[in-house]
Amino acid sequence: MCGIFGYIGKKNAVDIIFKGLEKLEYRGYDSAGIAVVIDKELCIRRSVGKLCNLGLSLKENPISANIGIGHTRWATHGSPSKENAHPHTDTAKTVVIVHNGIIENYVELKAELQKDGYEFKSETDTEVIAHLIKKYCKGNLFCAVQKTLSRVKGSYALGIVSKDEYDKIICARKDASLIIGVGVGENFMASDIPALLPYTRDMIFLENGDIAEITAEKVVVKNIKGDIINREIKNIRWDTVQAEKDGYKHFMLKEIFEQPRTIEDTFRGRIYPDEGRVYIEEVKLKLKEEYIKNISNIYIVACGTSYHSGLVSKFLFESFAKIPTEVDIASEFRYRDVILDEKTLVVVISQSGETADTLAALRLAKSKGCQTLAVCNVVGSSISREAMYVIYTHCGPEIGVASTKAFTGQVTALYVLALDWAYKREALTIKELKKYLKELWEIPLKINEFLKNAESVHDIAKVFANKRDFLYLGRHINYPVALEGALKIKEISYIHAEGYAAGEMKHGPIALIDKSMPIVAIVIKGRIYEKIISNIEEAKARGGTIIAVADQSDKEIGNKSNYVIYVPETDEFVSPLMTVIPLQLLAYYISLILGCDVDQPRNLAKSVTVE
Ligand code: F6R
Repeated sequence: MCGIFGYIGKKNAVDIIFKGLEKLEYRGYDSAGIAVVIDKELCIRRSVGKLCNLGLSLKENPISANIGIGHTRWATHGSPSKENAHPHTDTAKTVVIVHNGIIENYVELKAELQKDGYEFKSETDTEVIAHLIKKYCKGNLFCAVQKTLSRVKGSYALGIVSKDEYDKIICARKDASLIIGVGVGENFMASDIPALLPYTRDMIFLENGDIAEITAEKVVVKNIKGDIINREIKNIRWDTVQAEKDGYKHFMLKEIFEQPRTIEDTFRGRIYPDEGRVYIEEVKLKLKEEYIKNISNIYIVACGTSYHSGLVSKFLFESFAKIPTEVDIASEFRYRDVILDEKTLVVVISQSGETADTLAALRLAKSKGCQTLAVCNVVGSSISREAMYVIYTHCGPEIGVASTKAFTGQVTALYVLALDWAYKREALTIKELKKYLKELWEIPLKINEFLKNAESVHDIAKVFANKRDFLYLGRHINYPVALEGALKIKEISYIHAEGYAAGEMKHGPIALIDKSMPIVAIVIKGRIYEKIISNIEEAKARGGTIIAVADQSDKEIGNKSNYVIYVPETDEFVSPLMTVIPLQLLAYYISLILGCDVDQPRNLAKSVTVE
């Protein structure tokens, strides 16, 4: 997730773009850049690190222009470096672009362009777009963009400027947000509303497939065929704080609702269900097939929510790839006499990439000669730098202290990895691989469908918000989801909650159950469905109130529980991505009703960098 901003008008574009980027910095902060046209030539400035570094360079060597585009980067392809920072240009420095999104077929396009003699300066997926536009530009920038986009697969919000047509910015959108700010004698474009609010409240929200031509006086929106499309100008009444949260009351709620997109961003370009193909670029070249075939066991090490996603993936590595897998809490792992050797793969999972215990566990594993792989959200973080291999979740910055989209991003990345290895180890047939990839492919749509009914979870939250204790039950791959549901409610509502493997209930916790105890049970169809039904019958017989999270198609569950949250049906192996969503929402709404500080709960920090 990156931020883009563009300006055309009579004022100094550099100042306006820089201020716009400041508002967008939360979307990415590993490098930043700006490009303007001065005396019919492109002038590009880029800096690594926070935006203030770009600010310093502009202060030392000021530039001024009436048209330009800027970018603040959250690396996906290529490390945070000056070469990989946007804007990117073609070899002749005619066209310059900023991009937010992922170009899935950039490897093929890059090979084709290199054959044609185009020289690449970065490791990014974005650079192919600059070269393609240059290649297709025969005196009409708009047509060149049209032709380029017809060849590109993936997601994009793009801002494009050419020194040959310096009276316009072309922008285009597919599966990444892009908004045009409409001014008087000046116009703007940006990734989101807050960046535009200081300048205008009149905005055009581009839709997928739109390509717009912006001059100082006019905005014309067309489709890829070049037909003009009428997009309404909307007047936005939000205040600035509301706007930063995209209109949601809290970052946590915004991040819960972002999950269909962040899951998709994490698997985009990595899975091809129709072909039964998985392509994880980061590890493809480094982790040799021979090594994957010979992994004797996996140790997954993490903390908190990341530990729970590790527990989910244990089922995936064992059931799909047939690799014995242990999962450990980092603060325990680092002080145990773990038996590791060079055939053990240690996987560390961390959203921030800075958690002290996880980092220490990683170092310990390295010192024992193990191969190490990190699943991480923050590019350039300590863990991502120190691990031998890294797979990034493409969730963008998570601001709410309670982790939501990072969990589903991690499960997605690990699901893809387990399937890839399962196939390479000949533990899955191509038919099975295609089936499981398709299940993942359909998840974002299903979550979107469920989120339309989020208010039904709010209604249940109203009934239970005054309870002192909760029990969360799950089995098999949804047992870790029960743990995660309990963790969420504890941390943001300060209500005591326990997550339990439902079959373990009768060995102790059943003693806790009485009329005052709500029991959230994940009861989706799969190998243990009947078993968990028996467990909830036992709980109900002792007076417990059952809130079931169940498949839409389950006709029986209504008779066996007091409340049901229905979710779209999924395969059990991908179901944690679905079942965790109502639990996140339940915790959120209860916290809201109780008036707690949802985004910054007491005593917690987003990144735990001390032991
Ligand atoms: C819970 C939560 C924490 C983190 C844990 C690990 O909502 O946010 O439990 O999951 O501190 O953090 P990372 O993943 O950054 O290593």
